[in-house]
Amino acid sequence: KIFNENGSKRVVVTKDLPGKRWLDVLVNADCRVEVCTHPDAILDVAKVKTLISTRCDGVIGQLTEDWSEELFGALKSAGGTAFSTYAVGYNNVKVAAANAHGLPVGNTPGVLTETTAEIAAALTLAAARRVAEADVFMRSGQYVGWLPALFVGNLLQRKTVGIIGAGRIGQAYARMMIEGHKMDCIYYDMFPQPKFEEYVTDYGKFLEGHDEEAVTIRRADTVENLLREADVVSLHCLLDASTTHLMNAERLGMMKSNAVLVNSARGPVIDEVALPGLAECANAVILPHIASASLWTRGGMATLAASNVAGVLQGFPLLPDGGD
Ligand code: DGY
Repeated sequence: KIFNENGSKRVVVTKDLPGKRWLDVLVNADCRVEVCTHPDAILDVAKVKTLISTRCDGVIGQLTEDWSEELFGALKSAGGTAFSTYAVGYNNVKVAAANAHGLPVGNTPGVLTETTAEIAAALTLAAARRVAEADVFMRSGQYVGWLPALFVGNLLQRKTVGIIGAGRIGQAYARMMIEGHKMDCIYYDMFPQPKFEEYVTDYGKFLEGHDEEAVTIRRADTVENLLREADVVSLHCLLDASTTHLMNAERLGMMKSNAVLVNSARGPVIDEVALPGLAECANAVILPHIASASLWTRGGMATLAASNVAGVLQGFPLLPDGGD
């Protein structure tokens, strides 16, 4: 699909994006916008390369594409100066390769924070209270009536939630679990997260005024200590070499036997081989990659990605991402 055919800068968008504002942003910046409509859900390097083989000033790419030297080299050769991924996470983007070609990399932080935290909260509740299992049971016509021990799960109130990766999304999720479920909270992050205390403690203080017992919020010295103590472990770290398979068999074995593990971060943060038969596990709740899938967020991501590209094409520097 081509929009604003006579625009002076050619911008390729590798998958159609939701909403309309993103397109206005690019058209207002005098871009000719070409949206790829290839039926493949995931475009391989060769297909993306074809899209950028003629003159191409900027690209909005997807998290499913392998943006490494080969594609950034091709984009540079096509005259490209602007690139944004339609995601906050950029584990599929070799930023150093892009920068080596003088291409800054834009991403879409901020607009996914609450939406992703909501899915983590939804998974937490669904797993603790066996929502998916009970749903399957009802749909298969097995329900005959109320029974005292039918699908008895675990109450979250007053339990301990452990957060691994205490950036924006981890903080938003922590607030939901502390404020909504009065959970004590321990968190771990490789980097100091002074804002975590500040942001989450406000809610702890809020609860003090409403509760006889205040919630506690503290930093764990090690991931291992967090795993031994938490009733819910929620992963919010980015994916890089240091976090790939962070949750391996050994660390999974350190969790309490009835603890809930929630992953709304990238899949490979968990070594899936160490979770044999996940799909056969009735009490697992398994979703596709939908943590940011609210209309508002997906539209916001599109507008941000378009602004990243349009801004660079108009000579403005990219705003630095403060980290997840
Ligand atoms: C991101 O932005 O990194 C998300 O995974 C998209 O949902």
